[in-house]
Amino acid sequence: MTTKKFNLDLDREERMSIGEELLERINDYMGSVGGVRVSPELDVDAIVSFAQRLSFEHPVSAQEAIDHIVEGLTRFQVHTPHPRYFGLYNPRPNYMGIMADMVTAAFNPQLAAWSHAPIAVEIEQYVLKEIAAQFGYSAEAADGTFTTGGAEANLTAVLTALIHHFPSYGKEGLRSLKAQPVMYASAESHHSLVKAARSCGLGTDSLRIIPADSQLRMNVHALQRQIAADRAAGYAPCLLIATGGTTGAGAIDPIGELADVAEDEGLWLHVDAAYGGACVFAPELMEQLRDIRRADSITFDAHKWMSVPMGAGMYLTRHREVLHQAFSITADYMPKEGAGLNRVDPFTHSIQWSRRFIGLKLYLSLATAGWEGYRRVVRHQAEMGNRLRQELTRSNWTVVNDTVLPVVCFTDIRVPEESRAKFVSFICGEAVRSGQAWISVYDMNQEPALRACITNYETAEEDIIALVRLLNSARAQMMNKKER
Ligand SMILES: Cc1ncc(COP(=O)(O)O)c(C=O)c1O
Repeated sequence: MTTKKFNLDLDREERMSIGEELLERINDYMGSVGGVRVSPELDVDAIVSFAQRLSFEHPVSAQEAIDHIVEGLTRFQVHTPHPRYFGLYNPRPNYMGIMADMVTAAFNPQLAAWSHAPIAVEIEQYVLKEIAAQFGYSAEAADGTFTTGGAEANLTAVLTALIHHFPSYGKEGLRSLKAQPVMYASAESHHSLVKAARSCGLGTDSLRIIPADSQLRMNVHALQRQIAADRAAGYAPCLLIATGGTTGAGAIDPIGELADVAEDEGLWLHVDAAYGGACVFAPELMEQLRDIRRADSITFDAHKWMSVPMGAGMYLTRHREVLHQAFSITADYMPKEGAGLNRVDPFTHSIQWSRRFIGLKLYLSLATAGWEGYRRVVRHQAEMGNRLRQELTRSNWTVVNDTVLPVVCFTDIRVPEESRAKFVSFICGEAVRSGQAWISVYDMNQEPALRACITNYETAEEDIIALVRLLNSARAQMMNKKER
């Protein structure tokens, strides 16, 4: 069958040939990405003109369109799957995750209503329960939902905490509350919480930013003081957010102590473990996250350390009723075939309505790698982080953060303090401009440091050595310049 009259479909032969060609390109990319520049030169004119090269008045063939986009992405993006991308928490996506996204796009299951995609909804529920169990939640109590990422999961956490504390909030809104709710997170927490405060109508002032200690973990005494001051001033503390692996320096808040505070103060405890949560797969890395089981809810992103394509986040909770309280709704136009089957329609259980089969990438990845595969991935990356610390120290760099996660912040303390910011920015700029690695700069206690994170399960010792060589040579270049 061909539906060429719309140009929207291809005949079988064309589909096969495009598919084979594309798979070959994807495989070539995965095999050779280590040989391309990690980041592009940011030539805005060239990029804009490339983006606009295809005209919608004069359609091109499928092959031309595919060639165009593969070339564009090869030339004009930071290659997060590159083994020397030492960047933010963007992984090299594993192959089964990529295949899962293709399957999802082709079958296009609609997960809003259980009866429209029962197998997909049940697979997601199965995966969520298995992940929740890894965090120490009991199977009977645990519930959750896949999200587009950590930001949506954090927004879900704020909403569920509000609903849990203030049952009238859902119907009558903030106006119905006698006191203004406030929540607490460290100065190092993710800024999606700021957006969540805005989206929920609380306003950003309601997010109390608690100072961090020298290792960028939340200062528990400062938290207690702030809660006491808020109560005295007539506010209604309701939510405490701990971070299990901060975005900047991989700091893990003292979750056990924060769980005690939350219990004493009657606060909902949310742990944003978007990245660091993967430590639960490797018992030796788990120590600082052990108390995560005491959290009322958790954010965890599979598109970070679990190496699946974006976007695959999760919101997990040990309060079975709370997603229903926050999101239940009836709509006449929604399918009714599942009524009476004792199953949950995801549109009544989450922010999203139409819903993509997000969980499939994790299901297929876990089904083929198993927990053991992930244990090895997490261990390998943590080991590469340690290797990087060793190599840096050997070359007279000083590591300035302290974490079990493979996030390494460092500087050269031999450089006079007043010139260090400039020095760090020069080294980072040189490394990125070289196209041989991608690193960034992060402020450690108001002092900029270089930041390199092992985000890729393919990153090997030789990549670590190459990075340190690159840094050493940029440093030598700067010193020479100075001497001249
Ligand atoms: C700790 C933490 N929370 C939340 C987020 C936001 O996650 P996403 O980008 O998946 O929405 C990030 C992103 O890096 C993060 O590091």
